[in-house]
Amino acid sequence: MKNLATPLVDSHAHLDAKPFTEDLDTVIERARENGVEHILTVGCDLASSRASVDLALRYPNIYASVGIHPHDASTVNDSVMDELSRMIESVEKVVAVGETGLDFYRDHSPRDQQRSSFRRHIQLAKEAGKPLIIHDREAHDEVIQIMQEENAASAGGVLHCFSGDLEMARKCVEMGFYISFAGPLTYPKNEALRAIAQTLPIDVMLVETDCPYLSPQGWRGKRCEPAYVRSTAEKLAEIKGLTIEDVARITSLNTWRLFGIGKVDQSTRIAYVIRNSLYLNITNRCTNSCTFCAKFSDFTVKGHQLCLEREPSVEEVMNAIGDPSPYDEVVFCGYGEPLLRLDLVKEVAGAMKQSGITVRINTDGQANLVHGRNILPELAGLVDSISVSLNAPDAEIYQKICRSEFGEQGYAALKDFLVEAKRHIPSVTATAVTLPGIDIEACRKVAEELQVEFRERIYNEVG
Ligand code: NI
Repeated sequence: MKNLATPLVDSHAHLDAKPFTEDLDTVIERARENGVEHILTVGCDLASSRASVDLALRYPNIYASVGIHPHDASTVNDSVMDELSRMIESVEKVVAVGETGLDFYRDHSPRDQQRSSFRRHIQLAKEAGKPLIIHDREAHDEVIQIMQEENAASAGGVLHCFSGDLEMARKCVEMGFYISFAGPLTYPKNEALRAIAQTLPIDVMLVETDCPYLSPQGWRGKRCEPAYVRSTAEKLAEIKGLTIEDVARITSLNTWRLFGIGKVDQSTRIAYVIRNSLYLNITNRCTNSCTFCAKFSDFTVKGHQLCLEREPSVEEVMNAIGDPSPYDEVVFCGYGEPLLRLDLVKEVAGAMKQSGITVRINTDGQANLVHGRNILPELAGLVDSISVSLNAPDAEIYQKICRSEFGEQGYAALKDFLVEAKRHIPSVTATAVTLPGIDIEACRKVAEELQVEFRERIYNEVG
Protein backbone atom coordinates (compact mmCIF):
# COMPACT_ATOMS: atom_id res chain seq x y z
CA MET A 1 0.00 0.00 0.00
CA LYS A 2 2.80 2.35 0.90
CA ASN A 3 4.86 1.69 -2.22
CA LEU A 4 4.48 3.91 -5.25
CA ALA A 5 5.25 2.99 -8.86
CA THR A 6 7.25 6.24 -9.08
CA PRO A 7 8.78 7.20 -5.74
CA LEU A 8 8.24 10.70 -4.37
CA VAL A 9 11.10 13.16 -3.93
CA ASP A 10 11.35 15.46 -0.92
CA SER A 11 12.70 18.44 -2.85
CA HIS A 12 13.56 20.53 0.21
CA ALA A 13 14.76 19.18 3.57
CA HIS A 14 17.27 20.25 6.20
CA LEU A 15 18.70 16.89 7.22
CA ASP A 16 21.73 18.50 8.86
CA ALA A 17 19.45 20.18 11.41
CA LYS A 18 19.91 19.30 15.07
CA PRO A 19 16.65 17.34 15.50
CA PHE A 20 18.04 14.67 13.11
CA THR A 21 21.44 14.08 14.72
CA GLU A 22 20.26 11.11 16.80
CA ASP A 23 18.27 9.08 14.29
CA LEU A 24 18.96 10.17 10.70
CA ASP A 25 19.27 6.58 9.39
CA THR A 26 15.86 5.72 10.84
CA VAL A 27 14.36 8.89 9.36
CA ILE A 28 15.70 8.04 5.90
CA GLU A 29 14.46 4.46 6.18
CA ARG A 30 11.01 5.64 7.26
CA ALA A 31 10.94 7.94 4.20
CA ARG A 32 11.69 4.98 1.94
CA GLU A 33 8.95 2.90 3.61
CA ASN A 34 6.53 5.69 2.69
CA GLY A 35 7.55 5.80 -0.95
CA VAL A 36 9.96 8.74 -0.60
CA GLU A 37 13.30 7.69 -2.06
CA HIS A 38 15.27 10.79 -2.95
CA ILE A 39 15.84 13.81 -0.74
CA LEU A 40 17.38 17.18 -1.55
CA THR A 41 18.96 18.57 1.61
CA VAL A 42 19.39 22.33 1.55
CA GLY A 43 22.11 24.48 3.11
CA CYS A 44 21.21 27.64 5.04
CA ASP A 45 24.64 28.97 5.95
CA LEU A 46 28.22 27.94 5.29
CA ALA A 47 28.32 25.27 8.00
CA SER A 48 25.03 23.69 6.97
CA SER A 49 26.02 23.86 3.30
CA ARG A 50 29.17 21.89 4.15
CA ALA A 51 27.11 19.46 6.22
CA SER A 52 24.61 19.02 3.37
CA VAL A 53 27.43 18.18 0.97
CA ASP A 54 28.77 15.62 3.47
CA LEU A 55 25.34 13.98 3.69
CA ALA A 56 25.08 13.82 -0.10
CA LEU A 57 28.47 12.11 -0.21
CA ARG A 58 27.47 9.64 2.50
CA TYR A 59 23.99 8.59 1.28
CA PRO A 60 23.34 7.55 -2.34
CA ASN A 61 19.77 8.91 -2.38
CA ILE A 62 20.58 12.29 -0.88
CA TYR A 63 21.55 15.35 -2.92
CA ALA A 64 22.63 18.79 -1.73
CA SER A 65 22.03 22.47 -2.37
CA VAL A 66 24.42 25.11 -1.04
CA GLY A 67 23.63 28.70 -0.13
CA ILE A 68 23.09 31.29 2.56
CA HIS A 69 19.54 31.80 3.83
CA PRO A 70 18.29 35.41 3.89
CA HIS A 71 18.32 35.16 7.71
CA ASP A 72 22.12 34.88 7.49
CA ALA A 73 22.62 37.28 4.59
CA SER A 74 24.77 39.48 6.83
CA THR A 75 27.45 36.75 6.84
CA VAL A 76 27.85 36.83 3.04
CA ASN A 77 31.17 38.10 1.68
CA ASP A 78 33.55 37.24 -1.16
CA SER A 79 35.18 34.31 0.58
CA VAL A 80 31.80 32.78 1.53
CA MET A 81 30.61 33.00 -2.08
CA ASP A 82 33.93 31.54 -3.26
CA GLU A 83 33.54 28.56 -1.01
CA LEU A 84 29.97 27.92 -2.20
CA SER A 85 31.26 28.07 -5.74
CA ARG A 86 34.04 25.56 -4.94
CA MET A 87 31.54 23.14 -3.39
CA ILE A 88 29.40 23.26 -6.54
CA GLU A 89 32.42 22.69 -8.76
CA SER A 90 33.94 19.86 -6.76
CA VAL A 91 30.88 17.78 -5.84
CA GLU A 92 28.59 16.52 -8.57
CA LYS A 93 25.77 15.85 -6.13
CA VAL A 94 25.44 19.55 -5.39
CA VAL A 95 22.53 20.22 -7.72
CA ALA A 96 21.26 23.69 -6.77
CA VAL A 97 22.07 27.10 -5.29
CA GLY A 98 20.13 28.13 -2.18
CA GLU A 99 18.25 28.61 -0.21
CA THR A 100 18.43 32.27 -0.95
CA GLY A 101 15.84 35.00 -1.31
CA LEU A 102 14.25 37.58 0.96
CA ASP A 103 12.59 37.27 4.37
CA PHE A 104 10.96 40.54 5.41
CA TYR A 105 8.86 38.74 8.04
CA ARG A 106 11.65 37.98 10.47
CA ASP A 107 14.22 40.49 9.19
CA HIS A 108 17.08 38.60 10.86
CA SER A 109 19.51 40.32 8.48
CA PRO A 110 19.22 43.94 7.31
CA ARG A 111 17.14 44.15 4.14
CA ASP A 112 19.91 45.71 2.07
CA GLN A 113 22.20 42.82 2.86
CA GLN A 114 19.41 40.36 2.00
CA ARG A 115 18.96 42.02 -1.38
CA SER A 116 22.64 41.99 -2.19
CA SER A 117 23.06 38.37 -1.04
CA PHE A 118 20.09 37.32 -3.19
CA ARG A 119 21.62 39.02 -6.23
CA ARG A 120 24.97 37.33 -5.63
CA HIS A 121 23.28 33.91 -5.37
CA ILE A 122 21.50 34.47 -8.67
CA GLN A 123 24.83 35.38 -10.27
CA LEU A 124 26.41 32.25 -8.81
CA ALA A 125 23.59 30.04 -10.09
CA LYS A 126 23.96 31.48 -13.58
CA GLU A 127 27.74 31.04 -13.57
CA ALA A 128 27.51 27.49 -12.23
CA GLY A 129 24.59 26.51 -14.48
CA LYS A 130 22.55 25.33 -11.48
CA PRO A 131 18.93 26.12 -10.58
CA LEU A 132 17.99 28.37 -7.66
CA ILE A 133 16.03 27.51 -4.52
CA ILE A 134 14.27 30.69 -3.52
CA HIS A 135 12.80 31.53 -0.12
CA ASP A 136 10.27 34.35 -0.03
CA ARG A 137 8.45 35.56 3.03
CA GLU A 138 6.49 38.81 2.95
CA ALA A 139 8.76 40.10 0.19
CA HIS A 140 6.84 38.98 -2.90
CA ASP A 141 7.19 42.10 -5.05
CA GLU A 142 10.88 42.57 -4.39
CA VAL A 143 11.65 38.90 -4.95
CA ILE A 144 10.05 39.12 -8.39
CA GLN A 145 11.76 42.43 -9.13
CA ILE A 146 15.23 41.09 -8.29
CA MET A 147 14.57 37.87 -10.20
CA GLN A 148 13.72 39.99 -13.24
CA GLU A 149 16.59 42.45 -12.86
CA GLU A 150 19.16 39.68 -12.45
CA ASN A 151 17.63 37.51 -15.19
CA ALA A 152 17.11 34.60 -12.80
CA ALA A 153 15.12 32.94 -15.60
CA SER A 154 18.37 31.91 -17.25
CA ALA A 155 19.24 29.81 -14.18
CA GLY A 156 15.70 28.60 -13.45
CA GLY A 157 14.71 27.13 -10.13
CA VAL A 158 11.90 26.85 -7.62
CA LEU A 159 9.96 29.08 -5.26
CA HIS A 160 10.17 26.83 -2.24
CA CYS A 161 7.31 26.56 0.26
CA PHE A 162 5.37 29.01 -1.87
CA SER A 163 3.53 31.68 0.11
CA GLY A 164 2.72 34.33 -2.51
CA ASP A 165 -0.51 34.94 -4.38
CA LEU A 166 -1.70 33.63 -7.74
CA GLU A 167 -0.34 36.62 -9.63
CA MET A 168 3.13 36.07 -8.22
CA ALA A 169 2.95 32.35 -8.94
CA ARG A 170 2.06 33.12 -12.56
CA LYS A 171 5.00 35.51 -12.90
CA CYS A 172 7.36 32.87 -11.55
CA VAL A 173 5.97 30.23 -13.90
CA GLU A 174 6.37 32.64 -16.82
CA MET A 175 10.04 32.92 -15.88
CA GLY A 176 10.25 29.12 -16.07
CA PHE A 177 10.28 28.60 -12.32
CA TYR A 178 8.57 25.77 -10.45
CA ILE A 179 6.28 26.27 -7.47
CA SER A 180 6.83 24.00 -4.48
CA PHE A 181 4.30 23.09 -1.80
CA ALA A 182 5.10 21.99 1.74
CA GLY A 183 3.01 21.09 4.82
CA PRO A 184 1.02 24.36 4.84
CA LEU A 185 -0.95 23.02 1.84
CA THR A 186 -2.64 20.67 4.34
CA TYR A 187 -3.56 23.32 6.94
CA PRO A 188 -7.34 23.72 7.26
CA LYS A 189 -7.19 27.52 7.06
CA ASN A 190 -4.99 27.63 3.96
CA GLU A 191 -7.73 27.77 1.32
CA ALA A 192 -5.84 30.50 -0.56
CA LEU A 193 -2.82 28.25 -1.12
CA ARG A 194 -5.02 25.36 -2.23
CA ALA A 195 -6.75 27.66 -4.71
CA ILE A 196 -3.35 28.42 -6.27
CA ALA A 197 -2.55 24.70 -6.43
CA GLN A 198 -5.89 24.10 -8.09
CA THR A 199 -5.43 26.82 -10.69
CA LEU A 200 -1.86 26.24 -11.87
CA PRO A 201 -0.96 23.26 -14.04
CA ILE A 202 0.61 20.45 -12.02
CA ASP A 203 3.48 20.34 -14.51
CA VAL A 204 5.04 23.28 -12.66
CA MET A 205 4.74 21.84 -9.16
CA LEU A 206 7.12 20.19 -6.72
CA VAL A 207 6.48 18.82 -3.24
CA GLU A 208 8.73 19.18 -0.20
CA THR A 209 8.71 19.06 3.58
CA ASP A 210 11.15 21.84 4.62
CA CYS A 211 11.73 19.48 7.55
CA PRO A 212 12.33 19.64 10.49
CA TYR A 213 9.94 22.61 10.17
CA LEU A 214 6.36 22.91 8.92
CA SER A 215 4.91 19.46 9.66
CA PRO A 216 1.74 18.71 7.70
CA GLN A 217 -1.59 18.65 9.52
CA GLY A 218 -1.63 15.58 11.75
CA TRP A 219 1.94 16.11 12.91
CA ARG A 220 1.76 19.83 13.60
CA GLY A 221 3.92 20.91 16.50
CA LYS A 222 6.04 17.77 16.09
CA ARG A 223 9.30 17.34 14.21
CA CYS A 224 8.72 17.12 10.49
CA GLU A 225 10.60 14.53 8.40
CA PRO A 226 10.83 13.53 4.70
CA ALA A 227 8.28 10.68 5.03
CA TYR A 228 5.58 13.30 5.57
CA VAL A 229 5.97 14.72 2.06
CA ARG A 230 3.54 11.97 1.15
CA SER A 231 0.84 13.73 3.13
CA THR A 232 1.35 16.96 1.17
CA ALA A 233 1.34 14.96 -2.09
CA GLU A 234 -1.92 13.29 -1.04
CA LYS A 235 -3.45 16.69 -0.40
CA LEU A 236 -2.28 17.87 -3.82
CA ALA A 237 -3.87 14.77 -5.38
CA GLU A 238 -7.15 15.59 -3.67
CA ILE A 239 -7.00 19.21 -4.89
CA LYS A 240 -6.18 18.19 -8.48
CA GLY A 241 -8.63 15.28 -8.66
CA LEU A 242 -5.75 12.86 -9.25
CA THR A 243 -4.35 9.85 -7.42
CA ILE A 244 -1.22 9.79 -5.26
CA GLU A 245 0.39 7.69 -8.01
CA ASP A 246 -0.33 10.46 -10.53
CA VAL A 247 1.08 13.15 -8.25
CA ALA A 248 4.21 11.10 -7.48
CA ARG A 249 4.84 10.45 -11.19
CA ILE A 250 4.31 14.07 -12.23
CA THR A 251 6.11 15.87 -9.38
CA SER A 252 9.03 13.44 -9.56
CA LEU A 253 9.35 14.12 -13.29
CA ASN A 254 9.28 17.87 -12.55
CA THR A 255 11.98 17.44 -9.89
CA TRP A 256 14.06 15.36 -12.28
CA ARG A 257 13.75 18.00 -14.97
CA LEU A 258 14.79 20.76 -12.59
CA PHE A 259 17.50 19.13 -10.49
CA GLY A 260 18.31 15.96 -12.43
CA ILE A 261 17.57 13.79 -9.39
CA GLY A 262 15.18 10.95 -8.65
CA LYS A 263 13.86 7.99 -10.57
CA VAL A 264 11.56 8.48 -13.54
CA ASP A 265 10.47 6.32 -16.44
CA GLN A 266 10.40 8.29 -19.68
CA SER A 267 9.99 5.37 -22.05
CA THR A 268 7.13 5.88 -24.50
CA ARG A 269 3.73 4.69 -23.29
CA ILE A 270 1.18 2.98 -25.51
CA ALA A 271 -1.14 2.43 -22.52
CA TYR A 272 -0.99 4.80 -19.55
CA VAL A 273 -2.96 5.31 -16.37
CA ILE A 274 -4.36 8.61 -15.08
CA ARG A 275 -6.67 8.44 -12.07
CA ASN A 276 -8.27 5.04 -12.61
CA SER A 277 -8.63 5.28 -16.39
CA LEU A 278 -6.42 3.44 -18.85
CA TYR A 279 -5.57 5.66 -21.83
CA LEU A 280 -4.38 4.37 -25.21
CA ASN A 281 -1.82 6.27 -27.26
CA ILE A 282 -2.13 4.85 -30.77
CA THR A 283 -1.02 7.68 -33.04
CA ASN A 284 0.71 11.06 -32.93
CA ARG A 285 -0.88 12.11 -36.23
CA CYS A 286 -3.77 14.54 -36.17
CA THR A 287 -6.24 16.14 -38.57
CA ASN A 288 -6.01 19.39 -36.65
CA SER A 289 -3.07 21.45 -35.55
CA CYS A 290 -4.58 23.24 -32.56
CA THR A 291 -2.77 26.38 -31.45
CA PHE A 292 -3.05 25.36 -27.79
CA CYS A 293 -1.92 21.74 -28.25
CA ALA A 294 0.73 21.04 -25.61
CA LYS A 295 2.53 18.51 -27.78
CA PHE A 296 4.24 21.32 -29.66
CA SER A 297 6.33 22.07 -26.58
CA ASP A 298 6.31 18.80 -24.66
CA PHE A 299 5.15 15.28 -25.45
CA THR A 300 4.42 14.26 -21.88
CA VAL A 301 0.93 14.02 -20.43
CA LYS A 302 0.64 13.85 -16.65
CA GLY A 303 4.19 12.54 -16.45
CA HIS A 304 3.77 9.94 -19.22
CA GLN A 305 5.96 10.16 -22.32
CA LEU A 306 3.73 9.82 -25.40
CA CYS A 307 6.06 10.50 -28.32
CA LEU A 308 5.71 7.42 -30.55
CA GLU A 309 8.59 6.38 -32.76
CA ARG A 310 6.08 4.46 -34.85
CA GLU A 311 2.43 3.55 -34.52
CA PRO A 312 1.72 0.39 -32.53
CA SER A 313 -0.07 -2.63 -34.03
CA VAL A 314 -3.26 -4.12 -32.59
CA GLU A 315 -1.18 -6.80 -30.92
CA GLU A 316 1.16 -4.25 -29.36
CA VAL A 317 -1.80 -2.25 -28.06
CA MET A 318 -3.41 -5.39 -26.59
CA ASN A 319 -0.11 -6.32 -24.93
CA ALA A 320 0.26 -2.84 -23.50
CA ILE A 321 -3.28 -3.02 -22.07
CA GLY A 322 -2.70 -6.36 -20.38
CA ASP A 323 -5.58 -7.02 -18.02
CA PRO A 324 -8.00 -4.07 -18.29
CA SER A 325 -10.33 -5.24 -15.51
CA PRO A 326 -8.89 -3.05 -12.69
CA TYR A 327 -9.73 0.17 -14.57
CA ASP A 328 -12.93 2.21 -14.68
CA GLU A 329 -12.64 2.69 -18.42
CA VAL A 330 -10.37 2.42 -21.42
CA VAL A 331 -9.95 5.70 -23.34
CA PHE A 332 -8.60 6.23 -26.86
CA CYS A 333 -6.78 9.51 -26.46
CA GLY A 334 -3.06 10.40 -26.54
CA TYR A 335 -1.43 13.18 -28.56
CA GLY A 336 -3.07 12.43 -31.87
CA GLU A 337 -6.45 11.69 -33.43
CA PRO A 338 -7.40 8.07 -32.58
CA LEU A 339 -10.02 7.75 -35.33
CA LEU A 340 -7.31 8.10 -37.96
CA ARG A 341 -6.73 4.46 -36.98
CA LEU A 342 -10.35 3.43 -37.21
CA ASP A 343 -9.68 -0.26 -37.88
CA LEU A 344 -7.46 -0.58 -34.82
CA VAL A 345 -9.97 1.30 -32.66
CA LYS A 346 -12.76 -1.05 -33.76
CA GLU A 347 -10.74 -4.17 -33.10
CA VAL A 348 -9.40 -3.11 -29.69
CA ALA A 349 -12.72 -1.60 -28.57
CA GLY A 350 -14.45 -4.82 -29.58
CA ALA A 351 -12.07 -6.84 -27.43
CA MET A 352 -12.66 -4.48 -24.51
CA LYS A 353 -16.44 -4.72 -24.83
CA GLN A 354 -16.18 -8.51 -24.81
CA SER A 355 -14.45 -8.25 -21.42
CA GLY A 356 -17.18 -5.89 -20.18
CA ILE A 357 -14.93 -2.81 -20.10
CA THR A 358 -16.29 0.71 -20.61
CA VAL A 359 -14.83 2.37 -23.73
CA ARG A 360 -14.49 6.09 -24.43
CA ILE A 361 -13.03 7.95 -27.41
CA ASN A 362 -11.68 11.49 -27.38
CA THR A 363 -11.78 12.85 -30.91
CA ASP A 364 -11.71 16.03 -32.97
CA GLY A 365 -14.83 14.91 -34.86
CA GLN A 366 -13.29 15.07 -38.35
CA ALA A 367 -13.34 11.31 -38.96
CA ASN A 368 -16.13 11.37 -41.55
CA LEU A 369 -14.12 13.78 -43.68
CA VAL A 370 -10.99 11.67 -43.25
CA HIS A 371 -12.65 8.40 -44.25
CA GLY A 372 -15.05 9.84 -46.80
CA ARG A 373 -18.04 8.08 -45.24
CA ASN A 374 -20.17 8.11 -42.12
CA ILE A 375 -18.13 5.94 -39.74
CA LEU A 376 -20.37 6.30 -36.70
CA PRO A 377 -22.58 3.23 -37.35
CA GLU A 378 -19.34 1.21 -37.29
CA LEU A 379 -18.73 2.27 -33.67
CA ALA A 380 -22.18 1.22 -32.46
CA GLY A 381 -21.93 -1.35 -29.71
CA LEU A 382 -18.17 -0.84 -29.38
CA VAL A 383 -18.03 2.55 -27.70
CA ASP A 384 -19.89 3.74 -24.60
CA SER A 385 -19.06 7.40 -24.78
CA ILE A 386 -17.40 9.86 -27.09
CA SER A 387 -15.95 13.29 -26.27
CA VAL A 388 -15.69 15.58 -29.27
CA SER A 389 -13.55 18.74 -29.17
CA LEU A 390 -15.85 21.57 -30.23
CA ASN A 391 -13.59 24.36 -28.98
CA ALA A 392 -15.27 27.22 -30.87
CA PRO A 393 -18.70 28.78 -31.34
CA ASP A 394 -18.33 29.17 -35.12
CA ALA A 395 -16.39 27.98 -38.17
CA GLU A 396 -14.14 31.02 -38.40
CA ILE A 397 -12.89 30.86 -34.83
CA TYR A 398 -12.62 27.09 -35.12
CA GLN A 399 -10.31 27.33 -38.08
CA LYS A 400 -8.25 30.00 -36.34
CA ILE A 401 -7.53 27.92 -33.25
CA CYS A 402 -7.88 24.31 -34.44
CA ARG A 403 -6.47 24.70 -37.95
CA SER A 404 -8.25 21.70 -39.51
CA GLU A 405 -6.60 20.33 -42.63
CA PHE A 406 -10.11 20.44 -44.16
CA GLY A 407 -10.36 24.20 -43.74
CA GLU A 408 -13.59 25.83 -42.67
CA GLN A 409 -15.74 22.85 -43.63
CA GLY A 410 -14.12 21.12 -40.62
CA TYR A 411 -16.49 22.88 -38.24
CA ALA A 412 -19.69 21.93 -40.08
CA ALA A 413 -18.46 18.35 -40.30
CA LEU A 414 -17.77 18.34 -36.58
CA LYS A 415 -21.31 19.50 -35.80
CA ASP A 416 -22.77 16.83 -38.11
CA PHE A 417 -20.55 14.29 -36.39
CA LEU A 418 -21.94 15.25 -32.97
CA VAL A 419 -25.53 14.92 -34.16
CA GLU A 420 -24.91 11.64 -35.91
CA ALA A 421 -22.96 10.26 -32.92
CA LYS A 422 -26.08 10.47 -30.77
CA ARG A 423 -27.75 7.84 -32.94
CA HIS A 424 -25.01 5.25 -32.34
CA ILE A 425 -23.21 6.01 -29.08
CA PRO A 426 -24.94 6.15 -25.68
CA SER A 427 -23.12 9.22 -24.33
CA VAL A 428 -21.96 12.14 -26.50
CA THR A 429 -20.17 15.19 -25.07
CA ALA A 430 -18.87 18.31 -26.79
CA THR A 431 -15.88 19.89 -25.04
CA ALA A 432 -14.15 23.26 -25.20
CA VAL A 433 -10.82 24.35 -23.81
CA THR A 434 -11.00 27.47 -21.64
CA LEU A 435 -8.61 29.42 -23.83
CA PRO A 436 -8.15 33.13 -23.23
CA GLY A 437 -10.57 34.90 -25.59
CA ILE A 438 -12.84 31.91 -26.15
CA ASP A 439 -16.49 32.45 -25.26
CA ILE A 440 -17.24 29.26 -23.35
CA GLU A 441 -20.92 30.15 -22.95
CA ALA A 442 -21.28 30.49 -26.72
CA CYS A 443 -19.73 27.03 -27.11
CA ARG A 444 -22.12 25.66 -24.51
CA LYS A 445 -25.01 27.11 -26.49
CA VAL A 446 -23.89 25.33 -29.65
CA ALA A 447 -23.80 22.05 -27.71
CA GLU A 448 -27.31 22.74 -26.39
CA GLU A 449 -28.62 23.39 -29.88
CA LEU A 450 -27.14 20.10 -31.03
CA GLN A 451 -28.62 18.46 -27.90
CA VAL A 452 -25.38 16.96 -26.64
CA GLU A 453 -23.71 17.25 -23.25
CA PHE A 454 -21.12 19.96 -22.75
CA ARG A 455 -17.93 20.04 -20.69
CA GLU A 456 -15.23 22.66 -20.42
CA ARG A 457 -11.61 21.58 -20.25
CA ILE A 458 -9.06 23.63 -18.40
CA TYR A 459 -6.44 25.26 -20.61
CA ASN A 460 -2.99 23.79 -19.95
CA GLU A 461 -4.42 20.69 -18.29
CA VAL A 462 -4.10 17.64 -20.51
CA GLY A 463 -5.35 14.17 -19.59
NI1 NI B 1 14.15 25.61 4.04
